[in-house]
Amino acid sequence: MPRWTIRAIASSAVQSAQAALFQYGTELLAEKRRCPAEDILSAAAHGRIPGADGGEENVTELELQMLFNLLIAAGSETTRNSIAAGVAALVQHPAQWRALQDDHSLLPRAIEEILRWSSSTPYNRRTATRDVEMRLVFEGLLDRFDSIALTGSIEWTRSNKHTGVRHMPVTFVAKREARP
Ligand code: HEM
Repeated sequence: MPRWTIRAIASSAVQSAQAALFQYGTELLAEKRRCPAEDILSAAAHGRIPGADGGEENVTELELQMLFNLLIAAGSETTRNSIAAGVAALVQHPAQWRALQDDHSLLPRAIEEILRWSSSTPYNRRTATRDVEMRLVFEGLLDRFDSIALTGSIEWTRSNKHTGVRHMPVTFVAKREARP
């Protein structure tokens, strides 16, 4: 996790802002319950999920609040990191920046390349549901129920740049065409 993210989480000003955001989410959910609109929170607020008895049940207030938090966290950290890393990549690769300036039709490819290059989710963990042999980033055997985490952008970046997956994978190429 970036150092400034840890500082931000630890600061009391940010904790107050988080509490205010939580309150805002709670009020917004209440509003969507009263007056549903064509949006994801309205769908969630009126959503039904499979219940323990085989029937359906409402999503609880706490689950909805956590969904709101998840959307805010998942939607902001990733986009913020991607934008920052994309700008940094273009600064470090001025020829790619010039190519984009000269031909704006390259933008969709450049966005895909920035997403690949920036690896903007800092931590992801997976638990093996069966014995599995890993060949990317970590080479070895995982037993069923072992967990493996990609922590920090370095490991993500390494896996996104693995030579077996892409041509010139460690190079930032704004107009890259190939997709995995
Ligand atoms: C550059 C933009 C984004 C990137 C690179 C990105 C990347 C990812 C990745 C890699 C995951 C999978 C995490 C995992 O399986 O452990 C994920 C999950 C998710 N993302 Fe995004 N995301 C982006 C933008 C957004 C936005 C804008 C939203 C919502 C406003 C969003 C909401 C979510 C949610 C709700 C999940 C599921 C989390 C879960 O299963 O617990 N993401 N995203």
